[in-house]
Amino acid sequence: STTQSFNMVLFGGTGDLVMRKLLPALYQAHRSGSLGVGRILCLGRRDFSQDDYLSQVTGKAKEFLPKSDWSDEVWATFAARIAYVKVDAENAEDYPALKTAVDEVPAEVTVYYLSTSPSLFTGICQNLAAQQMNGDNVRVVLEKPLGHDLSSSNEINQSVGRFFKENQIYRIDHYLGKESVQNLMALRFGNALFDPLWRREWISDVQITIAEEVGIEKRGGFYDHTGALKDMVQNHLLQMLCFVAMEPPFSLDSDAIRDEKLKVLRALVPYSQEDVLTKTVRGQYKAGASRGQPVVGYLQEDGVATESKTETFVALRCEIANWRWAGVPFFLRTGKRMADRLAEIVINFRDVPHQIFPAPGGISSPNKLVIRLQPEEHMKLYFLAKAPGDNMRLQQVHLDLDFAASSSIRRADAYERLLLDTIRGNLSLFVRQDELEQAWKWVEPIMSVWSQDGSAPKPYTAGTWGPAASSALLSRDGLSWHEEA
Ligand code: BG6
Repeated sequence: STTQSFNMVLFGGTGDLVMRKLLPALYQAHRSGSLGVGRILCLGRRDFSQDDYLSQVTGKAKEFLPKSDWSDEVWATFAARIAYVKVDAENAEDYPALKTAVDEVPAEVTVYYLSTSPSLFTGICQNLAAQQMNGDNVRVVLEKPLGHDLSSSNEINQSVGRFFKENQIYRIDHYLGKESVQNLMALRFGNALFDPLWRREWISDVQITIAEEVGIEKRGGFYDHTGALKDMVQNHLLQMLCFVAMEPPFSLDSDAIRDEKLKVLRALVPYSQEDVLTKTVRGQYKAGASRGQPVVGYLQEDGVATESKTETFVALRCEIANWRWAGVPFFLRTGKRMADRLAEIVINFRDVPHQIFPAPGGISSPNKLVIRLQPEEHMKLYFLAKAPGDNMRLQQVHLDLDFAASSSIRRADAYERLLLDTIRGNLSLFVRQDELEQAWKWVEPIMSVWSQDGSAPKPYTAGTWGPAASSALLSRDGLSWHEEA
């Protein structure tokens, strides 16, 4: 549990992320007793009274927290830790008052969480530094998107780096806070069983999917300038790929882990222009249905330009050029308005070298490991076993590990885990500057070829698994996307 006392300062205190994710996550940590001693200062430009702010926050939290986790009494003790402070993040003159508010209750650690537009990051850090609010016991948390391309991301990192040391900077990728992503490390490096098989000799291909059922919600203005490649691939999907592909770190030390992830990113084979045209698929949803209800197409969403070419779906085939993975295709896929909400990693193993049994029909990879992150967390190991009867026919079976059912301990939400890590000073689940830079470097050729290419993204009907080209990407290798049997 947390031992150090803290001040958690949330810039963007009236924003969506604070209301929907950060305060509910802190409440959960408070409720479970892991939050330790500390206060939460929520900053905003508006002139809210403490009561007005709290009543807003309470309403939202009640809406977003699971009903079974809500308690009026516990919430009251949590709310007593929150203070609203009127601060205009862009106005240097507001910072002395902020300093006074923070210093009112001295704490061992102060965390500034920048839940604002990235265009404010530099200014905020500069303003904090001008008041000497950047000492060694201070940490800053940067929310994505960290820039929109390599140079804007480097610019942010360089200017934040003028005021804070790298080990004070926590770049959030909330997918790393998910239990099952960490479980992948446990599985790979806590067991002797998998490592000998975890390589090109035994693995035929890897598939990583983050599919969402929702559309772009009310974020049209943001999303239309972003698209799925920058919103999901550059960060979440590449980070998951790193956890699948990295070499064992020598310890759990945060730089030991991040060094290994960086090596994976550096070994990703860069795309040529031809590769972008043949190994990437971008799609955009058209009107369709979600859970039986008709939904509009992307171009009809609010805040989206009439002839927008922004992609809401991406599928990629990539390779990692190193001894472990040379020649093994990694397929990444993500999209909005897909048939289901689902995040999973599928490891397909090679076939036996010589088959002595009658070929079991319709089974592409007899051995596969499926790690499901969402909506439920499980791991399934598929293999072939004898079908009952008087012949030697095989059938596919699986071992199923359901994490929720195998432990009664509550599974923390990603933000809860990561917020506690910022207080504890544990950087291992945060993205280091060089990783971020490398991820942008790899993604940039895709961005530039797509932007030069006059063609529109491939259409797909809302509520499906994306454009047909996505299946074609795999069928060229004689493969197909894993589908739950
Ligand atoms: C965010 C993206 O980073 O991740 C959103 O900006 C996306 O577009 C979200 O919906 C998905 O996160 P999760 O945890 O709901 O799968």
